[in-house]
Amino acid sequence: MLSHSVFSVVPIAIFGGTKLAVAATSGSFSILSMNVAGLPSILQTNDVPGDKATNAGTIGSDFAKYGYDVINVQEDFNYHAYIYATDNHTYRTATSGGAGIGSGLNTLANFDWIDYTRIGWDDCSDASGDDCLTPKGFTFMRTVVDSGVYIDMYDIHADAGTEAGDETARNSNLAQVAAYIDTWSAGNAVLVFGDTNSRYTRTEDNIGIFASQNGLTDAWLQLERGGVVPTVESLCDNPSTTNDCETVDKVFYRGNAIVQLSATYFNYESSKFVQADGDILSDHNPITVDFDWKLSTTLRQSDFWGGPHGDWFSDLTTLSTRASPKASVLTFRGGARLDSVGLTLADGTSFVHGGTGGTQVQLSLAASEYWTSAVLCQGTKDSHTRNFYIKAMTSTGRTLTTGTTTNDCATFTAPSGWQIVGFLGQDGDEMDQLGFIFAPQ
Ligand SMILES: *[C@@H]1O[C@H](CO)[C@@H](O)[C@H](O)[C@H]1NC(C)=O
Repeated sequence: MLSHSVFSVVPIAIFGGTKLAVAATSGSFSILSMNVAGLPSILQTNDVPGDKATNAGTIGSDFAKYGYDVINVQEDFNYHAYIYATDNHTYRTATSGGAGIGSGLNTLANFDWIDYTRIGWDDCSDASGDDCLTPKGFTFMRTVVDSGVYIDMYDIHADAGTEAGDETARNSNLAQVAAYIDTWSAGNAVLVFGDTNSRYTRTEDNIGIFASQNGLTDAWLQLERGGVVPTVESLCDNPSTTNDCETVDKVFYRGNAIVQLSATYFNYESSKFVQADGDILSDHNPITVDFDWKLSTTLRQSDFWGGPHGDWFSDLTTLSTRASPKASVLTFRGGARLDSVGLTLADGTSFVHGGTGGTQVQLSLAASEYWTSAVLCQGTKDSHTRNFYIKAMTSTGRTLTTGTTTNDCATFTAPSGWQIVGFLGQDGDEMDQLGFIFAPQ
């Protein structure tokens, strides 16, 4: 089930200054979410027969065998090494530790990512299930599905149980993820997949918050239930022989103004994850979803340069409401490093990111002149990577530069016939991380 992409000969972000990247404009990928029941067997058998270390090894070889593009696991505690020993995905997170120390959350993928972050819950409840025994929470990564194709992916393991204290904690957990998405994924495509410990019938949880607050679609609800929120509980067998029943493991998604995302397939994968004698490997049904992605014809983005510090910003939401945007004035500030980047569109809309230090430089573009490429140089300040230099180049060969060059630079060029019209990345007093938004000329 490896990802495949449709290629077009459009040069997009150029790395290292020389190579033309061939950018895909559409493709597909698969994901899996699985609670791997990895608490020490002495504490919790999970009602799974057999030896947990052996079962973990079988889970890892099934991950390799079926080759899902991105796998989020939960409860990956004390048998983690057995899963990684038999799995062969190229990109995998380092464990945060066994039960009592780690969150049990890990990701195994065919795609690289940037900005990986582990976040602990603000609230937990021991009303049932000893949830406060170990620091559970969620993880964030900006996954690089292809050059200029980013999806923010969240793994999640919310509080378990159905006592009042559990539901209060779980409501808080889900609200914490929703608030994080609003801040750190503003304007971005998003996938949340993991163990929510929630069902639509546990109304106190407010699992609907991902739809109501973040605009995410539940792939199971969409593909198996015609989008109708269940009011009656329907428990799944394990292995489940039907996709109609509801589990607490869920997949939510949205595209953005750059990447159109659609879920094309949902399945409980339990029949693939069994022991040699047919017994289950986990007390949870693993779930898989296939996605198709397609790039917009009006807005695209480059890759990023710099480090994952500062606050997330994106001009995408504003740009998605502008017809035929065009930069008319570029305004940068810099000195020892790059302090800020800004531009004013021909319609008067202006964007500015970063701080007020350094010296201001400006370039006004003619009506038929477009900002077509940029060089960024990154370096380290206070042990954090950030952008030190920018050079903008226009379609008529004029340039605007500020900051200080380093020996770690990259060139970002709009696809042929396109131009740079905005920014996205992370900033503070200076420009920590920076990417460019493209629109047709
Ligand atoms: C992982 O192993 C499977 C066989 O189990 C193989 O089909 C696949 O190509 C391997 N993937 C990588 C990335 O080596």
